[in-house]
This record gives sequence, structure tokens and C-alpha cells, in this order.
Amino acid sequence: MDSAFVFKPRGHRTDPDSLFATGTGDSQSLSQACIHSSSESCIITQSEQIVPLGESMEFVVKSVTADKQKTPCLVIGIQKSGLLSTAQSIDTITSGLLTELIKGGDLSCKAGETLLLHHVPEASCERLLLATAGDVDKPMSEAEYKKLVTNIIKAVNAANLKEVSVAIDELVVADKNTAWVARQFAEIVEHQLYCFDTFKSDASKESAPALKKAILLTARKTANAVKASVAQGCAIAKGRNVARTLGNLPGNICHPTYLANEAKALAKQHNKLTTKVLGEKQMADLGMHSLLSVSKGSAQEAKLILMEFKNGKKNEQPLVLLGKGITFDSGGISLKPGAGMDEMKFDMCGAASIFGVMNTIIEMDLPLNVVGMVAAAENMPGSQASRPGDIVTSMSGKTIEILNTDAEGRLVLCDALTYAERYKPEAVIDVATLTGACVIALGHHTTGLLSNNDELTSALLIASKEASDKAWQLPMGEEYQQQLDSNFADMANIGGRSGGTITAGCFLSRFTESYPWAHLDIAGTAWTSGKNKGASGRPVPMLVQFLLNKVK
Ligand code: BES
Ligand code: MN
Ligand code: ZN
Repeated sequence: MDSAFVFKPRGHRTDPDSLFATGTGDSQSLSQACIHSSSESCIITQSEQIVPLGESMEFVVKSVTADKQKTPCLVIGIQKSGLLSTAQSIDTITSGLLTELIKGGDLSCKAGETLLLHHVPEASCERLLLATAGDVDKPMSEAEYKKLVTNIIKAVNAANLKEVSVAIDELVVADKNTAWVARQFAEIVEHQLYCFDTFKSDASKESAPALKKAILLTARKTANAVKASVAQGCAIAKGRNVARTLGNLPGNICHPTYLANEAKALAKQHNKLTTKVLGEKQMADLGMHSLLSVSKGSAQEAKLILMEFKNGKKNEQPLVLLGKGITFDSGGISLKPGAGMDEMKFDMCGAASIFGVMNTIIEMDLPLNVVGMVAAAENMPGSQASRPGDIVTSMSGKTIEILNTDAEGRLVLCDALTYAERYKPEAVIDVATLTGACVIALGHHTTGLLSNNDELTSALLIASKEASDKAWQLPMGEEYQQQLDSNFADMANIGGRSGGTITAGCFLSRFTESYPWAHLDIAGTAWTSGKNKGASGRPVPMLVQFLLNKVK
């Protein structure tokens, strides 16, 4: 049985040797003195020499020639009917090889395509990876750049290469600077290298990624910014991968008590973090009968997990981040259909993202007070389970008629939101795989955002843009609130088929009247189905960016 299963996750594969390095200047002067960044997987190599941008690019070709051993693979950007400067230099020394490849159609000019060349003699690097950066004179879009980096990593791994060098300054993305390009590069590489093989009997048989080191070649003047960005990117990716692993764990292992123990373990490692866990008895004493109604049909005890990170000014009001932690959502008595029900182990991805963010802000040592809350429960149809029609009294005193036991997320969140009042928060943001309707409205690319505060909304939307972690606001209002009317209690827990994401937001808004609040519905963005089934770790990037912007 579950309790007898002693489980130690090996977690995702973060190889301490997986390195990022940023270098500038002449190859001969590339100092090997390594400055360890805050991320364990990130080592920065820095040149002492000041080299202007143009020269730097030409130099990369030289560096490859001079430093054969250290550059097994060089990535160069190619543009449709034009060559970026490194490519230009290589084209010159190879008597027009690249121009010929493009003319001959060997390299398609669609942004994101790659072509790996083995041993171009004049270039003197073992391999050249040509990467298409789209139209000449036109910067790449974000999506194109993400695809390009993803394909670079795929090509490098397919060729089993350990190390890659990229002239990062040449990759130009619309409206973004080199620092952004570098941070995304680090994030995407770490994301690609993630591997969840905890439950594979012979993990070594799985194709472990080969890539261990990425050298970002940049101009001297951007080196420091690039270095900081790479460190940030690594910290964000790490938090995101923490969230992915928790999300990917099966429901029989990752239950509310497991999450509570994770929170306790995190606090043990870091003295700025304190974890408190409320069990069902304590929650009953507080009157959290809405939250408790969800776990009644389960053998697993519900937990309210409080992770208090105190690293800001003493009297500064904290930001509260709350995650929906339904470790398995069967629907309860309003049972879900069988097909795809396994994916309801991902119904704690909101909670997982809170763990991810806490990990990242600890690593970044952000000078903020942040409370990470997780409302954890399992929604099962046991004999003690809540029935459709049951009426419960929430901690706020408001009564709720449970018309559908599958609308359980809002039932656990509403009591946690009331509890959050105790912190006198500057703002509360909840993150939840709340409604299937959100997948219909926004698909799998964009997180839904609902809020009672315009300032908080715009701060989150700005962060979402900066972090390239899409979100979009949906409306709320009196007209929608009426859909929650109940004949027998203060409100029903469902508002009918139309505007399902909005009525869920309206339900939560009734418990958030005393502080600025935003709700992120990640039902469509928290995981991928199908062949690449797995948790995405979103919206860790957006939330971390929001917190980073608070510090600035
Ligand atoms: N966890 C689900 C929402 C969900 C469904 C997320 C599918 C991602 C994919 C949530 O608890 C739920 O079941 N919501 C119901 C609400 C309805 C009963 C009002 C839904 O969306 O169908
Ligand atoms: Mn449900
Ligand atoms: Zn759910």
C-alpha cells in the first residue's frame, strides 16, 4: 500500500557538469577561470580582453580555428539570402560553402531549421551547426527563436555532442535584448535536458542527453548582462523542473502528505523558509468545511501547507502565492469519465508551481516576503464522500451548495483564500488547473487570468510577456456572478456550462474581497498530453518574473 512504499525520487537529471559558459574576446585570451554563478549547473568563463562587437564576431571564427579542442560544435545563424557575421566569415574562408548550401536548397530558410556539417576543414571546428534565423534584416519572433534553440539542442543531442558554442549576439529577436536572448537560451536548454525517468527500471537505457556545456559567445560590453541572465535563466529553469517533477509523480506517491513533507524538507535546507502544515483536525477547528468536503471520500488526509519565506523588510506585507493541490481528481461522486483520467494526477500542478517558485526565489535570494500556500487534497468517491446537493459552511461563514463534486478546486481554494487574510497580504495570486472551459477558451498556449485589481493584472501581464509565459485576462462581473445563485445556500459551486472559467473566478472572488487578488487558470498550460505527456512547469517563469519586478 501507499504508506509502505518507501520512495526516494531521483528527480530530474540535472547534471552538475551541464555547463553554460559565456565568453568574450579573442580565443587565445579566453580565460578558463570559472566564476560559479548561483546556479549549480552554470559556470561562466570570462575573458579579460575588451573586444568590440564586430571584431568579436570575426574573432569567433578565429577562436574556433585556434581553439579546436574547446569548440567541438559551433552554432552559427544563417538568414535567408544573407549571412550573419560569423557565418559570413566562415563562408569566406570556405570559399562560399554556406552560400552554396543555401542556393542548393540543402538548408531550408524557414526559421528554426538546422543543418549539421561534419568537419569543414577550413573552419577547424569538429562540427558546424547551421541554424536558420529567418528572413534577412528581420528579427526573429519569440516563437521562432524558441523553436530555433529547441532545434539546436535536438540536433546537438542527436549527434551526441557534449559541448556547443553559440554566438549569441547574432541571434536577434524582435523587441528583445541580448540579455533576454541569453536567458531564454539557458531556460530552453535546461528545459530540453530535463528527463523524468524515476520509475524506469533501467534509467541508463533511456537516451540521456549528451550536451554538457554551452558556451555563449558575446561582446565584452554585454558579457556581464549575459552572465547575469544565464544565471537567472538557470534558476528559473531549475524551479520549473522542480514543478515538472512534482507534477509528473503519480497520485499514489505524490499525495497531500507527500507534498507536506516536501515543504518541510525545503524548510530544513533553508533558514529563511519556515513551513507549517495544518492537518484535517486543525482545519476543522478553523471551520474550513469547504476544503474538508473535498477529501472526505479519500483515505488521504488533506493538508494546508504554508511556506513562509522571510527575506524582505520586517514589516513589509507578504505576497501570497496559493496553489491548487488536488493530487488526484477523480471527480468524486460526480465521477469523471475513464478516458484520460490518469492526467488528473496533474491537478496539483498549481501547487507544484508554487514549490518551483519557492525554490527559485530561495536560490535567487530575492529580498521579498513571500508566502507559498498549497491547498492539498485528493478528490475521491469513497463512502464518506460529499454528495451533489450537500451544503457546507466555508471558513468565511458563507454557505456553499455542492452541485457538482468535480468542481472541487474552488472548494479547497476558497478556504485557503480566507486563511490568507491572516497574512495581511500585499496581494494574493492563486494558481490552479481549475476549469476544462479554460482549455476551450484559450487552448494550450495561454494561461487564463482573472483579478479584482487592475494594477496587479497589468503587473502580471507585463511579467508574463517578459518571461515569454503567455497569459490573457478574462472578464468578471455581476452578470456572471448571478450564475452562481443557489436555491438553498449562499452560492452554488458551479455556474452552468457558459463561461465556466469566469464563473469559477467569480466564485473565488467572493473570498478575496479584502486584498488585491489574481487567479491564474492553468488548466490548458500546466501539462502536455499525448506522446510527450508531462508537466510543463508553467507558470513558474511568469511568477518569478513578477517577483523579480517587485524587487527592481
Ligand atoms: N481539474 C478539473 C479541471 C480540468 C479538467 C483541468 C480538464 C484540466 C483538464 C476541475 O476540478 C474540474 O473538474 N472542473 C470541472 C468544473 C465543472 C464541473 C463546473 C470542469 O472543468 O469540467
Ligand atoms: Mn474536478
Ligand atoms: Zn480538479
